[in-house]
Parts: sequence; C-alpha cells; structure tokens
Amino acid sequence: MAERIFIGVAWPYANYILHLGHQVLEVAADVFARYHRLKGSEVLMVSGSDCHGTPITVAAETEGKTPAEVASYYHARIVEHFEQLGLSYDLYTHTMTDNHTETTQEIFSALLDRGYIYKDTMEMLHCSSCDRYLPDRYVLGTCPHCGFEDARGDQCDDCGRQLNPTDLKAPRCGTCDAPPQPRRTEHFFIDLKKLAPKIAEWFEPRAEHMRPNVVRFTRNLLENIRERAITRDIDWGVPVPVAGFESKRIYVWFDAVIGYLSASREWAAKTGDPDAWKKWWTDDACRAYYFLGKDNIPFHTIIWPGMLIGVGGYTLPEDVPANEYLTMEGKQFSKSRGVVIKIDHFLENYQADALRFFITLNGPETSDSSFTWKSFQQRINDELVGKWGNLVHRALHFAFNKLDGVVPAACEPDAAGAELLGKIDGVIVRAGEQVAACRFKEALLTIMEAVGEGNVYFDKKAPWKQIKEDRSACEQTIYTILQAINGLKTLTAPFCPFGAGRLHGYLGYDDDLHAQTDAWSRAPLPGGQRLRQPEPLFRKVEDEQIEKEIAALEENSKS
Ligand code: MF3
Ligand code: ZN
Repeated sequence: MAERIFIGVAWPYANYILHLGHQVLEVAADVFARYHRLKGSEVLMVSGSDCHGTPITVAAETEGKTPAEVASYYHARIVEHFEQLGLSYDLYTHTMTDNHTETTQEIFSALLDRGYIYKDTMEMLHCSSCDRYLPDRYVLGTCPHCGFEDARGDQCDDCGRQLNPTDLKAPRCGTCDAPPQPRRTEHFFIDLKKLAPKIAEWFEPRAEHMRPNVVRFTRNLLENIRERAITRDIDWGVPVPVAGFESKRIYVWFDAVIGYLSASREWAAKTGDPDAWKKWWTDDACRAYYFLGKDNIPFHTIIWPGMLIGVGGYTLPEDVPANEYLTMEGKQFSKSRGVVIKIDHFLENYQADALRFFITLNGPETSDSSFTWKSFQQRINDELVGKWGNLVHRALHFAFNKLDGVVPAACEPDAAGAELLGKIDGVIVRAGEQVAACRFKEALLTIMEAVGEGNVYFDKKAPWKQIKEDRSACEQTIYTILQAINGLKTLTAPFCPFGAGRLHGYLGYDDDLHAQTDAWSRAPLPGGQRLRQPEPLFRKVEDEQIEKEIAALEENSKS
C-alpha cells in the first residue's frame, strides 16, 4: 500500500526577502517530498507565510505601511522565489485568510472546552503616554549581561542573549522613549504542565529516530516546562474568540503552527474535495514530518504536539528533523550587519539546482556549517558540473552526434557494465533509505559515488576509440552508460529537479519526470529511442563572479 506522508515546513515571517540561511529547511523538505512522490507515496506538503506578530508590525512601522501591506508584499516575493527554487509545495499560503482565522479559533475553543487553556493575569510593561501594553520587541533598554544600551525586550542584538522585557535595565518605550510601568493584564495560557506527560508519551518512542539535537532540546524543555501566554495585547493577529478579549489577539506562534492544519484544509477545498485533508490528519496510516531550523524546535516538539493531543484525533509528528544554522563566511547571517546573501540576488546569478546541491552537501544538517563563496564554487565546479554534468554531456553528446541520435539497440552489457548497473540498482535502494530517514547529505554522497563510477567506466571504455575499431563494442558502451544515466537521473531528481527534468527530455522522453509515481527505480531506457539535442545541464561558477561577491560582502559589512 502506498505510504501517506504529510510534510510541514516552518512558516517564514513575511517581513523580508529571505536569505540563503533560510533555504536549508525548504530544500530538505522538498527533496523528501520529491523522493516520496517518485516512490509512489501520497504526499501533502504545505507551508505559508507567517503574517502576524511583532516581526510584521515592526517592519510595517519602519516602512510606513500597514502590516497587511507589508505581509502581502513579502508573501508575493517569497512565492516567486520558492517557485524559482523548484519547491514543489502542494500549497504555499499565508495566515491572513478567513480559513486560517476560523481554524485557529476552532482549535483555541476546543482546547478551552477541554480544559487545556486557562485564564490568568501577568505583568506586562505598559506605556502610559502611548496608552498601550508594549510587545517585547517594543521595549528598549540596557542589556543586563553586556551593558549594550539598545537591547530589545526579546533579545540583545549585541551579545545575542534571549531576554524578557523586565530584565532590561532602564527600560524605555521603543516608540516614545517614556519609561513604561509594569501592569497586570489578563491573558490565556496553554496548560503545558497538564499536557507534558502526554507529550512525553508521544515523544519518547520517536526519540530513537529523531536527530540528537532535537531529542536533547526537547527532553530538556519537558523537564523545565514553563507556562506560556498564548494571547497578547496587540491589535494585529487572529481575534480571541472569547467575549471581553476584543482588544487582544492570539499570539503569533499559536496561530502559525495551526497553519499546518488550516493550509491542509485550504488545499483540500481548492482540489474540490473539502474533506481530502482528513486522509493526512485523521487517519493512522499517515506519517507527519516537520522541517525547521533549531530555534523553532520548542514549537514543533512541545507546543504543536501538545495542542494536537489536547484537541485529540489528529496525526502527531513522526519526525521533526531540525537543522542547525548556516553561517555566512563564518559569521551569523545578519541583515543589520550586511552579512547576507539574498535569495533573489542568488537566483538571478546562479542555478537553483546548484544551490540545492550545495546546501544538501554543505548545509547544517547535523552541525552548524558555513556558506563560503569559495566552497560553493568548488562544490559546483568540481562535482555538479565536473562529475555529473560532465558524464551526462559526454555520453549524450557522443550518442547524439556519433550514433545517429538514438539509443543503441538493446544488448547485454559486458562484465564492467553489469557491475556499474548493479551498483546503481543498489544505490536506488540505499539512497532511498537514507532520504526516507532524512539523511539527505549521506544520500547525495552515495549517489555522487555512483556518478564517479559512471565516469570511470566511460573513461576505461573510451568509446571515442572504440568507434574507430569496433562499432558494436562502442554501441554496447553507450547503451550501458545511457542506462546508468537514466537511473542516476531518477536518483538526482529530488536534489536537482531542473537538471533531471531536462535530462529526461534529452533522453527522448515526452512525459514529465516529476509527475511519475512508482518510479524510484532504474527504468530501462528503450533501445532505438530518439534522443534530443543535449545542452550542458549545469553552468560553471566563474572566478570573476566569486571575486565580485566577496568584494560586495566586505563592502556591505563595512558600511
Ligand atoms: N515564523 C517563524 C520563524 O520564522 C516560524 C513559524 S513556524 C510555524 O521563526 F510552525 F509556526 F509555522
Ligand atoms: Zn511609548
């Protein structure tokens, strides 16, 4: 029976053009989705732009626009960039829809009814001249750890420590500079203490296959459960569905995680079968995977599962493969310090497949890693272009120009050829298992090893010599290497979908490779099939490009 897989990807805030550090989780999720679809699993992959909360209102104030304008603008840009990157979402939406508001309020009310949400008061800083409670980011003051005078109520940008607004010395209102006063205000809280034993019961059996960083982090959180307010004194967000709370909104994190469910419903409605989402959410046969950065772990291994357990009847996460951080030339990506590569700039100048390839091999899958232009250039030129692109181009070019542009007639490969094809069949199984276990880097290394063997085979046989001496031996070589390439095409399809799709066409197929199912195998390429004129699949990254990038980066981080 086909497996059923739900894939949720952390929702980026719609307040800026994404930088490379962010793409790590999207690429991993997309590799996973494409692999499962090829294999024949029923996949639902959703995400969207996170449009509420102070990240958006702060951006709106800076840009002199409304929060909705800011969020809509960046949402549209994100959609554009995700398409260029080849992300194959079933639905990428945002949190400003009526459907999302309804779903959020429904979950809130269900948790309230079942006693997992309670009302209490908390102390918040209130600015009397602005006449409002100040969200964490709107309080400025002196960092108690490092003495930085412009620390924000949620964190200090100088020493990087997380803060509470009440930790700040000499706090002041970020809008008017007046000193705010603590005041008690009424809010709703999620009862994590009550949920914790049930969360642990769900988590522990899965800890075995989860990444060690996720396990460590989650166990630590479960031992130190803190109460969490899930409403805020702001006016941008999902309204609280309780009388007397008209001036408050649901906390952005609480509504964002519900996006996974609301997006699934929206997707279903759009397909014309409004109940279709239930196959992934209320059926035990489904396994759910969530892709995110490590700072999002608490929300995906504690809060979201806790909410789902509290409501009851919904599929709980099976795995939460969180990434570590990608740094930039050894430094934290930072907008304010100019240490940043924006995705739009990147995609205008380099191929999406190159980014996907690099991020998979050099990305922070299990430990922090650094993006450097030099390592990018090297990986792409030596491996993607030099090994995979080169093998494809040499073989196809030869077949197209020297062997009448058709796949040679079917024949038995010789011993070396049989070994190569056997090796690729083994890689289909092994790399498949590695991807299924969210070990993407290992999987791509396994595949690249087989590419290397393809090159060795091609060089040993030297078909450019064979054609002069023994045409039928030459045809056997080309027939064999094209079979190998056809298998490698499928293997690389989840990682480099654009190149694989074009290669599929050069090999003479008319259908869409990415629409295939039950195709995670080495399909026989029919003898006699007419090839199409091949073009190189990948572009080299030139020295001048890299030099320009490095210079620009140094320039930006100076100013
Ligand atoms: N917007 C959050 C961030 O960028 C992530 C939200 S993930 C979700 O850190 F699960 F809540 F949607
Ligand atoms: Zn003020």
